[in-house]
Amino acid sequence: MKFLVVGGAGYIGSHMVKHLSGAGHDVVVADNSPTRRNVRRVELDIADGRALDTLFAEYQFDAVLHFASFIEVGESVTDPGKYYQNNVAATLTLLQAMVRAGINQLIFSSSAAVYGSPQYVPIDESHPKAAINPYGRSKWMVEQILEDFDRAYGLKSVCLRYFNAAGADPDGELGECHEPETHLLPLILQAASGRRNDVTVFGRDYETPDGTCIRDYVHVADLVSAHSLAVDYLVAGGASTAFNLGNGLGFSVQQVIDAACAVTGRQIITREAPRRAGDPPRLVADASKAKAVLGWQPQFASLEKIVSHAWHWEQLHPWH
Ligand code: UFG
Repeated sequence: MKFLVVGGAGYIGSHMVKHLSGAGHDVVVADNSPTRRNVRRVELDIADGRALDTLFAEYQFDAVLHFASFIEVGESVTDPGKYYQNNVAATLTLLQAMVRAGINQLIFSSSAAVYGSPQYVPIDESHPKAAINPYGRSKWMVEQILEDFDRAYGLKSVCLRYFNAAGADPDGELGECHEPETHLLPLILQAASGRRNDVTVFGRDYETPDGTCIRDYVHVADLVSAHSLAVDYLVAGGASTAFNLGNGLGFSVQQVIDAACAVTGRQIITREAPRRAGDPPRLVADASKAKAVLGWQPQFASLEKIVSHAWHWEQLHPWH
């Protein structure tokens, strides 16, 4: 098949591109950053409808996978315009160009952030959508736009609501690297490798067994397999829908630090800080819909595997 992967040089997108090109598909990456894969990269801005029209005239893509978005919750609060412009307005331009070109299959990277502070856990897809920041609202707005685009134009989509994406390519070739880095596991492993002095624990006064926040960490390779299954689902004529992607297992910040100490054999120095604004105490997915409908079977559900793959990559790429 022919795929356009928007954001294909990013953390999850790059793992997806490796998988798709390895499976023999024809892949074009749209990203501002270089990709080390041997696929064509176009440096187009998806807010540029004309550039999209030109690309879509050249390639008859079967489907688009859209990974590109800004993801910093705190920044979305201080600069919401940036988030609505990039995550919503530019995505709308992409969708309109897809409609003009007759490309009617999309896999969209959504987030557990659409739910806001959970009213119950584990969270299933019908949990109320009550995002508590512009980042989460931007994802939910796109999901609603997609519902309307299906009704009006027949654009079929699968929205994949990731919980906490983590881990690295089991081969060690690709891994997680954001600039600036704000995510827990890479920060812990940078403290383990000596690239940082310590890792900060945001709050030990939550109503959880050890007082630190609980999250559902899902391996990036398992996210990739869910995307492939979602493509198969649409190709088979599946209706537009959304799926949670998580393991249904919650691990606390302290448990992740403990797992990293065990995997790395290094000392990890922690620093205490107050709660980070907007952090719900516990986010755990009910992903039974993805398992039942897509046949999704996560291969790397154990925290130890997630941490050890991330650590392998961190050691191979100390300069990243
Ligand atoms: N944490 C720390 N110290 C740090 C960084 C994080 O204690 O230095 C804690 C956070 O308070 C949180 C947990 O570790 O309790 C995980 O934090 P991350 O920043 O790694 O991830 P989030 O749960 O905040 O965010 C993830 C995604 C976001 C998405 C959000 C909700 O990375 O893109 O889930 O879906 F918006």
